[in-house]
Amino acid sequence: MVSPQFVFIVTLAAYIFFTRWRRMKQKPLEPAPELEQPKWSLYTASELKRFNGKSSPFIFLAIKGDVYNVTEGGKFYGPGGPYYTFAGHDASRGLAKSSFEEDVVPEGDEMDDLSDLNEEEKSTLNDWKTFFDQKYPVVGRLVTPTEKEQHLAAEKAAPVENISEGIPAADSRSSTPSEKN
Ligand code: HEM
Repeated sequence: MVSPQFVFIVTLAAYIFFTRWRRMKQKPLEPAPELEQPKWSLYTASELKRFNGKSSPFIFLAIKGDVYNVTEGGKFYGPGGPYYTFAGHDASRGLAKSSFEEDVVPEGDEMDDLSDLNEEEKSTLNDWKTFFDQKYPVVGRLVTPTEKEQHLAAEKAAPVENISEGIPAADSRSSTPSEKN
C-alpha cells in the first residue's frame, strides 16, 4: 500500500522537476531594442504631440523652445507616469508653476511666450532647464508653422548640411520665451 506522504513527495518532486525543465527550455528574454537618437529637427507644437510614448516610442517635451528627448525618463513622462501631461508638449509653464494639470500645456500650434511669469516662476523654470540640459539630449527646436515653412523654403533654395544652421539660438529669438525672461 502506497502512503499518502509518498504520493505527496513524488508529486512535489515531479512538479519541481517539471517547472525547472520548463524554465531551462525557455529562451532568455531579449533586451528591448535600443532606439536610435532621432535627427535634430524643427517641430511645431502639433508635430510634437505625436512624441508622447503612445503614438511614437519616443517621448519628447519642450522647454523654452528646446525640444528634449526624455524617452529615458519614460517612468516619469510615459503613459501612466506622474508627468505624462508634459509628454509631447511645451512643459515650460507647468515646470515654472510647479503644476502638471492639463491647463498648463498650450494647445494647438499656440506658442506660449511666458511673459506673464513672475520672477520666482522664471527662476524655477531656469533651474528645471539646467536640469534637463544635464540629463536629456536636445533633439530640436519648437517653432511656429510659419517659421518652419520659412526655414524649409530657405533650405530648398539653398540646402544646408545641418538643419540647425540658420535657426537662432534659444536666447536670441524674439518669438521664443527666453529672450523675454
Ligand atoms: C506631490 C509632489 C511631488 C512629489 C512627491 C514628487 C516626487 C518626485 C520624485 C521622487 C522624483 C524623482 C527624483 C529622482 O529621480 O531623484 C521627481 C522628479 C521630478 N519631478 Fe516631481 N514630485 C512632486 C511634484 C512635482 C511637480 C509639481 C513637478 C512639476 C510640475 C514635478 C516635476 C518633476 C520632474 C520634471 C522630475 C524629474 C524627472 C526626470 O528625472 O526626468 N514634480 N519628483
